[in-house]
Amino acid sequence: MRWAAARWHPVKHGTAAYELSHRVRAFAVAAVVVCAGPSDAAAEGPLAATDALVRVDYGLSTAKRANCMGCHKWHGDGGPGYGGAAISLRKTRLARAQLVELIRCGRPGTNMPYFDRDAYKDDRCYGLTFDDFANDDDNRPLQGKKYLNERQVNAVADFVIAELQGKEVTKAYCEKYFGGPTRQCEAIGSP
Ligand code: HEC
Repeated sequence: MRWAAARWHPVKHGTAAYELSHRVRAFAVAAVVVCAGPSDAAAEGPLAATDALVRVDYGLSTAKRANCMGCHKWHGDGGPGYGGAAISLRKTRLARAQLVELIRCGRPGTNMPYFDRDAYKDDRCYGLTFDDFANDDDNRPLQGKKYLNERQVNAVADFVIAELQGKEVTKAYCEKYFGGPTRQCEAIGSP
């Protein structure tokens, strides 16, 4: 894996790097408050529900291909690895629009990579471009293993919301992830 040798530079308080990662985070948090709202799926009919299921499955397979689980683990709870702890996707409180943005743009100054082919080429991501990181290798945004288009990003966000966010690990999820019952799944208490 190309970014297996991921860098992890603790961002020092009071440095420009700290200010930057702080700014990105503050932005994400502020955006949650503004955009949190009922998900579109709830307002749609049964036909849309079937579409949603297909989208969630597509989201899971896309997340696997993008190697989200390389860092966030198959269960989505994240944990140590790659030199930095990936946040739990089960505990994340980001609203859908913020998930989409985070997947597209990553989080500069951390090991969360970006997946939008054009991220940081123009100012679509937090108003920042690669030029802003010219002398700042520690915070330069990391590129994901593969680029995701808009449809794929949306599907991954829908998968995170439907299967992970706010939920505990279940046997059903485990079997869905691994494509059938495995010994690992047997050990899980919740059906
Ligand atoms: C190279 C490792 C890596 C990969 C690959 C990765 N992530 Fe992350 N992700 C992280 C790290 C590290 C963080 C924590 C960032 C921080 O400290 O703020 C994170 C944070 C997140 C968060 C933020 C949670 C929150 O509440 O702030 C979400 C959501 C997320 N990742 C989703 C994904 C998805 C979806 C993918 C695949 C498209 C993915 N990640 C791929 C390492 C990774």
